Amino acid sequence: MSYLFRDTDRAARRLQVLAEVYKPSSEAFLHDVVHTRPQLALDLGCGPGYTTHLLAETTGSARTIGLDSSRHFIELASGSASERISFLQHDVTQTPFPSGQADLLFCRMLLTHLKDARATIERWLTQLKPGGLLLIEEVNWIHTDRPIFRDYLAIVSAMLEQQRNQLYIGEQLDTYQPANNDVQRLLSRVYQLPVTSAHAATMFYLNVAAWKNHPFVQQHYPSDQIEQMEDELSALTSSTASNEINWGMRQIAYQKT
Ligand SMILES: C[S@@+](CC[C@H](N)C(=O)[O-])C[C@H]1O[C@@H](n2cnc3c(N)ncnc32)[C@H](O)[C@@H]1O
Repeated sequence: MSYLFRDTDRAARRLQVLAEVYKPSSEAFLHDVVHTRPQLALDLGCGPGYTTHLLAETTGSARTIGLDSSRHFIELASGSASERISFLQHDVTQTPFPSGQADLLFCRMLLTHLKDARATIERWLTQLKPGGLLLIEEVNWIHTDRPIFRDYLAIVSAMLEQQRNQLYIGEQLDTYQPANNDVQRLLSRVYQLPVTSAHAATMFYLNVAAWKNHPFVQQHYPSDQIEQMEDELSALTSSTASNEINWGMRQIAYQKT
């Protein structure tokens, strides 16, 4: 399995910006769905741990464990571990999880990178205790009229598609009903998140380095186009515009009965 956006220190910095940007969306999702304090909550694909801390703080879970396949991200995350919060290196497409079954599974922005999202969700559902919740948050759409943002998104979308992944996987997830009769879908909605141009440009700028040497990009896009994109995004990181780009975050919650 290769994670397209990599696990460098620069990628970790991008996830720090991402944590700030998506916090209102994930917080609202957790507040609206989790009404009982979980004994054990797992953050699937936790990166350097920002979502794990958000999960622990928002739900008050007694114990929270972040799982990620990247050793580097787990090392970074472990620097912020506490009595209640810990981290383990694990490929979350593989079950059972090392922690055993949980009361709450949370996953943000990972299914977009996995080969068979539906089969993975089925496996995750086996890792819930009775009454347990699985919360999934993925991108459904990104709306923008700014040409540089549209160009960036078109490249990332094409790159993901050529390896049979989908940038806007939220829409596809909405059509899916688990085969397991013991599972009920509690919620499927799109949370609208306005993002400042400076934040969008920072996330995009930090990400270009992760994929600009990818063979697909080198084959399909001239290097001067990518360099120009980096320059334009870099300049926009100090933009004061706030109404140029919006995210639609698909939020889906399942409960094991
Ligand atoms: C886009 S990041 C999202 C991180 C975090 N959930 C967030 O929203 O900030 C995707 C994360 O999934 C991890 N990842 C990718 N494939 C994985 C797998 N098979 N098992 C566990 N983690 C994986 C990557 O290392 C990365 O940390």
